[in-house]
Formats: sequence, C-alpha cells, structure tokens
Amino acid sequence: MNILGINAYHGNASAALLCDGKLAAAVEEERFNRVKYAAGFPAEAIRYCLRTAGLTLDDVQHVAVPRNPYARLGTKLLYAVRMPSFARERARVLAKFTGIKEALAAALEADPARVRARFHRVEHHVAHLASAFYCSPFDQAALLSADGLGDFASSMWGAGFGRRMTIHGSIAFPHSLGLYYSAVTQYLGFLKFGDEYKVMGLGAYGEPEFLDHFRDILRANGTRFHLGLEYFTHHRTGPQMTWAEAGKTPVLGTMYSETMARRLGPVRAPDAPIEQRHKNLACSLQTRLEEVYLGMLRRLAEETGMTSVCLAGGVAFNCVANGKIPGATGFANVYVHPAAGDAGLAVGAAQFVWHQVLGNPRSFEMQHAYWGPEFSREEVRAALEASGLSARGCAVRELPEDDLLEKTAAIIADGRILGWFQGRAEWGPRALGNRSIVADPRRQEMKEVLNRRIKHREIFRPFAPSILAEKTGEWFEQAHPSPFMTMAYPVKRALRERIPAPTHVDGTGRLQTVTAAANPRYWKLIRAFERQTGLPLVLNTSFNDNEPIVCKPAEAIDCFERTAMDALVLGDFLVTRPVSGG
Ligand SMILES: [Fe+2]
Repeated sequence: MNILGINAYHGNASAALLCDGKLAAAVEEERFNRVKYAAGFPAEAIRYCLRTAGLTLDDVQHVAVPRNPYARLGTKLLYAVRMPSFARERARVLAKFTGIKEALAAALEADPARVRARFHRVEHHVAHLASAFYCSPFDQAALLSADGLGDFASSMWGAGFGRRMTIHGSIAFPHSLGLYYSAVTQYLGFLKFGDEYKVMGLGAYGEPEFLDHFRDILRANGTRFHLGLEYFTHHRTGPQMTWAEAGKTPVLGTMYSETMARRLGPVRAPDAPIEQRHKNLACSLQTRLEEVYLGMLRRLAEETGMTSVCLAGGVAFNCVANGKIPGATGFANVYVHPAAGDAGLAVGAAQFVWHQVLGNPRSFEMQHAYWGPEFSREEVRAALEASGLSARGCAVRELPEDDLLEKTAAIIADGRILGWFQGRAEWGPRALGNRSIVADPRRQEMKEVLNRRIKHREIFRPFAPSILAEKTGEWFEQAHPSPFMTMAYPVKRALRERIPAPTHVDGTGRLQTVTAAANPRYWKLIRAFERQTGLPLVLNTSFNDNEPIVCKPAEAIDCFERTAMDALVLGDFLVTRPVSGG
C-alpha cells in the first residue's frame, strides 16, 4: 500500500512517500525550484517520490494532506468576522486546498477524474507529532510540537503508545512560542522568513539583561503559556503569512507592536550595526524561550511518567534549548525529526494515515536523513564533462574509495575547503554529510575564511562539527546522539581551543553524531581525518551559497566554480584546482 504525503500552499512545501509503512522518499520542493522555503504546490517533489519508487498515480491508494480547515473553526470564524482581510486570505488558501486533487493530477499529467486515491486531512500539529513519534525508535514516548502557527494552533502535546497517539492539550492562536521568537527576530532587524536561527546564534554573545521584560512578553504557567499581547500586533491583524504562491519564499507581516519598542528600546534597522544591547536582547529572548520550553517538557515528563520525548515543529530546531533537555527535564531520550519544520508534515501526515487511520503496526525507524534524490556514476561523469572543469585546468580523477578518502582527508587537514557530494540528498534543512562543505576544525581562521570565500553570511553565526558518534563523550559534556544536528552541547573546556572553528562563542557546538551505519562513507572520511590529525571530527556546513542546498551534480559544480572552494568530491570523482584559491 502506498501513501503520498503532501505539504502544499504552506512554507517548506514538500512530498513524501510511504510504501507499506516504510519511507521510500521525502524531499522539499525548494531543492528543485531553487527558491528557499518555497511554498506553493510541490509538483517536482511529488514526481521525484513516485519516480524513485517506480510508481504512478494509479498506484497511490491514499493521499495525506497536513491541514484541516475544520480544526478550531469557531476561533477562525471569530477572527474572520473581526478582520475582513483575514477572511479573504483564508478563503483564497481554502480555495487552493479544495483544488488539491486537480493540482496533483495536473502535476502528473493525469485526468483528475481518474484519481482513485482516498484523500485524508490531518491537523497540522497532529502531523508534526506523528512525524516525530512514528520515525523515532521509541515504542512509548511523550510528544511535543511547537511552532509559529498551523491550523490555528501553535503547540500540541500528548503521548504515543505503539501505533497510537493521544493528544493531551494544545495552545491556540494568538499565543505562540514560534511567533514570540519571530516577532523579536523582526524587531532585531532580521526580516527574512526563517531568520530566527540567526538570532539564536547571536544570543550566545550576550547576557540576559532584559530577562524580566521577556518574562512579561512570554508568560507561563505549567504546560501552558500566553503572550503579553500588548507587545504584538498579529492578534489584531490576523496571521499575515503569504505562502500560497507557487515558487515564492513565504513573507511574514510585522508582528511586534510599538509597545515592544517603547519598553525594549529602538527597533534595529536591518543594515544597522549590531550593538551589545542587541546581543543582550537576543540572549534574553533565548533564555526566556528555554525557561518556558524546558518547563513545558518538565511538566510533560511528570504528567506522562515517560523518559523519552519526540519533538517537531519549528521550535524543535532550537538546538541550544534541545541540548539542555537530557539534563534539565525528566527525559533521558530525545528524538527530533530531521525536518522538524513544516516540510516534515508530509511524512507525519502519511504516517498518521498508515498507523492511526488504517491501524497498521510500527515497522519503520528513521535512522538517517538520506531520502532525497541521488545520481548515478554516469550522471556525475556527464555533469563533470559538460562543466568543462578539466579544460580550465582542474584535475578530475576517479579514485577507489580508500585512496579517495585518504586524499580528501589530507585536503581538509591541509586547511583547504572541500565540497562533498554523495548519495541521496538530506531530508530537512541540515547538510549531514551528503551535500556538505567540509573543513578543518582546528583552524581559528576557518570561520572567517568560509564566510569570506564561500558562504557570505553573518560573522556571528556558528559553524557545526560532525563527529564520530562513538567519540562524542570524549569531546562534549553530553553524549546523547544528535544524528540530525538538532542538539548543541558544551565542548569539553580543555578541548575548546583545539577545535576553535566549530566551537561557538559560548563554548557549545551544534553537533552531528555520525555512525558507520547511517552514513558509512562520511564516517570513513572523518575516520581518515582522525588517522591523519588525531581529531575525530570535521567542520560541516551546508553545500550552498545563500540558496537552497545543492541537489544535482551540476549545481554542486556551479557552486564550486562560483565560490573559491579548493576541491570537490562528487561520488568517486575528486576535482582539485590547479592552484589553491584564496
Ligand atoms: Fe508547523
């Protein structure tokens, strides 16, 4: 039985395919149309999922859509009556949803009348919870989803037992941890959709000077919280998110009020310098988020008596807060879905249908995140030939694995910057060793070099380490697995100066723990680096330059050429420049 999950007309449009309960493919539309966080209808992603499994639309028995227009209908109607603009936007999005069957048929050049699949609507946060629980290794676990907004709720919690989930509570619009973070992110001058993680990185440079104010902005009581609404505008204007358009990055309306500026000081313009006050504001924002988020998790652990927790929703990308869960709550085990944001809804909705609607038992655990497109040796070779790299003086060699890994590790150890492209693309926003830029973690200057030459991003943002999983406890204060780069732990104090490049200013690293089972070739590369340098970790950043992560070999080659990257590995092919860039 085949179930197609579709996250459409929403940020991070995506598709996923379950075949007899096992994930066969999952990918975000942005990887194909090259528009970051692309909304609209994920036609390319759907075509990829079906092609990978050798299926056509006729083979799909169920389609799961992570949206339920009837959820919290009373609250929605109340807002619709008060705000005509909100009502118009809802009507527009709903019209799109009504036509989802036709859009699916059009994407696959099929006759809509011939689409026999049964369509299911799964509420947004139920799909988030399902994506976390049903991919986790746990038979029983507490569940928490927290984000900005979905189906008019911002968080939901409950418990999972085998094939079933029970919902214990939720928090409705306008109260939202995600919108709390987004509004202050805007106030601090970061206006793009998805900029919250920049402010999380900035917080490490500050002190929680404004914590008392932030306790007034975000107020909490046990599992529940609410916003001090005088600091916000979204409850007056309605959620102003523009994401029904195909091929466009979502846009958020302004969410902070004049009260925020009056009480916290002037709003920072996007191009204004970042002062210590801004760093302290970012730190206070993060500190308060942690107080409330970890408090919710403590209460959830008490209520359920469980020792494992599964997390999803955009707030579950807060690796700084996640890193504190094993020590600060009753939960010893944490599983975060790798696409914890709205892309993951496609997987969660499909799994919800398989387990909870159709009653099938568990038979799948997501142990790795490599569910995207892959390319054959012939396709890689053809892309290299078409690129003309050899004609421009680059050395292009196809090497046996051992030789390739030793040479590549030596390139990294030599301080050169490597593009590393292997196998299937990652599911979710983190590069996890298949579409990564890899560099030497020992070099203090590497952060600045990467930013100047390749990434062109804010200097205060940290880079992350990938470490052999079995060595985690030797280098970090915490050894709990972080296979999807969703946890930040303190680097052991005595070792911080040995790996300055991926150690953030507060001494933490947002690590990826790499096992030989999950990614054998990447594990072997780090192992080769360890043999040459004594360090079982490398610096890993996503293979891109202010764009979605590269998907195809041609995009990797283009990024290599555009930037001053020194070497590129595509499958078994090693490409080196005639003279080191810089
Ligand atoms: Fe969400």
